[in-house]
Amino acid sequence: MINVAVLGYGTVGSGVVEVIESNNAEVSLKSGEEMHVKYILDLRDFPGDPYESLVTHNFDDIVNDPEVSIVCEVMGGIGAAYKFTKACLEKGKSVCTSNKELVAKYGAELLELARENHCSYMFEASVGGGIPIIRPLNKALTPEHIENISAILNGTTNYILSKMEKEGADYGETLKQAQALGYAERNPEADVEGHDSCRKIAILSSLMAGKNVDSEKIYTEGITQITATDFAFAKAANMTIKLIATSKSLADGSILAMVAPTMISKENALAAVNDVFNGVLITGNMLGDVMFYGKGAGKLPTASAVVSDVIDCARHVGRSSIVCIWEKEEVVLADIAETEKAFFVRASKDAAEEIKAAFPGGQVVACEAEDFGYITTVMKEKEFDEKAAALGDKILNRIRVA
Ligand code: HSE
Repeated sequence: MINVAVLGYGTVGSGVVEVIESNNAEVSLKSGEEMHVKYILDLRDFPGDPYESLVTHNFDDIVNDPEVSIVCEVMGGIGAAYKFTKACLEKGKSVCTSNKELVAKYGAELLELARENHCSYMFEASVGGGIPIIRPLNKALTPEHIENISAILNGTTNYILSKMEKEGADYGETLKQAQALGYAERNPEADVEGHDSCRKIAILSSLMAGKNVDSEKIYTEGITQITATDFAFAKAANMTIKLIATSKSLADGSILAMVAPTMISKENALAAVNDVFNGVLITGNMLGDVMFYGKGAGKLPTASAVVSDVIDCARHVGRSSIVCIWEKEEVVLADIAETEKAFFVRASKDAAEEIKAAFPGGQVVACEAEDFGYITTVMKEKEFDEKAAALGDKILNRIRVA
């Protein structure tokens, strides 16, 4: 019998219990032994809940119970979650999590602790929700030198941008609708400012490099400045706008990582990833492109990913269940100012000649909108920034073009 404890009985935690108990025949068969949830840790009580008898408020009940071999940390945050994860790993209990903030910050350290204690730290659900992406990187793609990852990693912002594109609506009103429907949090900052995508691309980048990528050093821009007019220009250029997280492995061993709204061609595979879905496009040097697509958020898809890790741990009691190379050594991040790309520039119509003169050789985007739209030639970010600064407030918005 395998006994599991679930730390946090919120959306994902209740989903984990539901997956283990409702799909118990499948889960037990694939674990090789009968599996059940023995404890649920939460500060609250849940009167009337079918699993209320499993609730404890005392973490010691879990960490000191030798019958518990696998713990799901789905409480979020980096305070108690970090402390409890460490305590479980030190006791040789494997920990499976959806907590991207904790994985991004302490992944290398917690993996090392798990190795030292002959157990596992697993985080399939931390990136892409229900999409298998961590396991493919650690298993199927192991012979590859990963050259590039380009991804839509946040369902909330992808929902907002897709709706803006479809309905010609502005950012503010679309965010309000997304909040009313429960897609966006009441405090949407982590999503709309790109922090959530940043943590997720930091995790993928760390696995790509085998070394630690500090999420706090990744250049991150959110979607709050994108307007309906930007989408009108994108449409006129047969493009769309997505919040793209990228990580590129450079020849000198550094990594170019960033999160930013980006105009991409309608031909780009990521342009077809709409609504709350996520998509991850990986380029390996032998394999070429491979794409992962699916529900990047939500109770049951995320819980299912957590339980897939639980089953892996159950199959490998007493040893690490998966090869996961993520050392503590810091990866050098390339300076994005030195990188080259084209930029979409939106300005008022009376600034058109000045924009063309400042960025010669570009392309005017014809559109019925009031403003003037222009795509520059490919240039270094720092060159663009210098020219844009000289134009002052004449540039109303600028979006990178991929
Ligand atoms: N807020 C996240 C999203 C949840 O919208 O994708 C999944 O990490």
